[in-house]
Amino acid sequence: MRASHLEDYYSFLRFPSVSTDAEYAEKVTECAHWLVEKLTGIGLETKLVPTPGHPVVWAKNKHQPGRRTVMIYGHYDVQPPDPLDLWDSPPFEPVLKNGYVFARGSTDNKGQILAHILGVQEVLEKDGDLPVNLHFVIEGEEEIGSGNLGNFLSQNKEALRCDVVVVSDTGMIAPGVPTLSYGLRGVTALEMKVTSAQMDLHSGIYGGAVANPITALAQLLATLHDREGRVAIPGFYDKVKPLEDWEREAWRNLPIDGDKEVLKETEAPALFGETGYSTLERLWARPTAEINGIGGGYQGKGTKTVIPSHAMAKLTFRMVPNQIGEDLLELAKTHLRKNLPPGVTLEITDGHSGPWYLTDPHSAFGMAAQRALKEAFNAEVALIREGGSIPITTQFRTILGVETLLVGLALPGCRAHSPNENFPLENLDGGIRLNKAMLRELAT
Ligand code: BES
Ligand code: MN
Repeated sequence: MRASHLEDYYSFLRFPSVSTDAEYAEKVTECAHWLVEKLTGIGLETKLVPTPGHPVVWAKNKHQPGRRTVMIYGHYDVQPPDPLDLWDSPPFEPVLKNGYVFARGSTDNKGQILAHILGVQEVLEKDGDLPVNLHFVIEGEEEIGSGNLGNFLSQNKEALRCDVVVVSDTGMIAPGVPTLSYGLRGVTALEMKVTSAQMDLHSGIYGGAVANPITALAQLLATLHDREGRVAIPGFYDKVKPLEDWEREAWRNLPIDGDKEVLKETEAPALFGETGYSTLERLWARPTAEINGIGGGYQGKGTKTVIPSHAMAKLTFRMVPNQIGEDLLELAKTHLRKNLPPGVTLEITDGHSGPWYLTDPHSAFGMAAQRALKEAFNAEVALIREGGSIPITTQFRTILGVETLLVGLALPGCRAHSPNENFPLENLDGGIRLNKAMLRELAT
């Protein structure tokens, strides 16, 4: 690994580019400016494109007629680092330990997108040109649903014309096993607020006379699932496309044990989820309802005898083919309103929403990706779907008319979105090799 590559990586990681929290907005923009400088420095024509949210970084080489055009997409924004006390080192001060770099964004997505940038840098240094016409589109709002990127794509549709999109923002099933992901789950979010009295109350003076909103919220949230882990919202599974037999068979034959893997990485006491499906099937091809956060009442030290005025929860639903976000939200809202316990009111706010993605790993571009993966990692390629979401992939299809190749570099132990997120330098190197192989394979 070149020393300058490592310096670039650390500089990139030092920006706390947390997109969801306005407190960090300036840092997010500074990070975008750093990228502009980096991409300009390696010889690409680069623009910072403002949006109503965080800016998009757009870079291209000199395009020549008759060549394939490839877009490489990634994101420079990261998830919040909280809870801070669970990190072994500060999240925005990268450290190298046993070949792994620890920092928020080290995997998701700074390490992965940087590998592509460094790959392009090395080829430009050596050959003075790339084998393809290239666009880098690196956004700052992926972790909050890419709300402004669709407009960017529509507004620049002609200038962004390309043949295929390459994204490294997914995983490898194990170290050294090159992985092509041909499917992702979608995600749709809502926030709910349950209100009882208009102010916090003395629980001795009023307890027993008015409803407690936390109790009501707990009862309501408990109606979302049955005891076996199935989502209990009526109609929730109606549109779910059943897993194909070949797919179940192929996933059974992958060189990993999904149960062992998840137990090891999560340190949970046991696995839990919908019966009738293997762990990998539940993760990659079954929908879920998750409570991501819950709040209300006194959270300080000691005790406080209070009936809080309100309680709130944040929910997301992971969707699979052929579920539709808007329909699902309606089903969920109807269910929540119908099951609301007496004595309280309910307010629901919609959050971001992005669809699932499914593509053909055996298409001509899919096969090119498989060849490049095999070449870069010198091992058989695993074909999988994944549980995470990259909503913009659907808009690459609907707006630009192109498919997305998901060639991720994240490892099972990467702790994306968790404390101690990490990425091995080995994969930064692998990603550089992969970038070169991809552009070569896609060129012809
Ligand atoms: N890199 C992930 C998506 C991902 C994770 C794909 C794991 C495959 C496996 C991406 O950065 C991400 O976290 N996306 C969000 C999107 C959401 C906030 C709209 C997600 O999946 O929660
Ligand atoms: Mn992420």
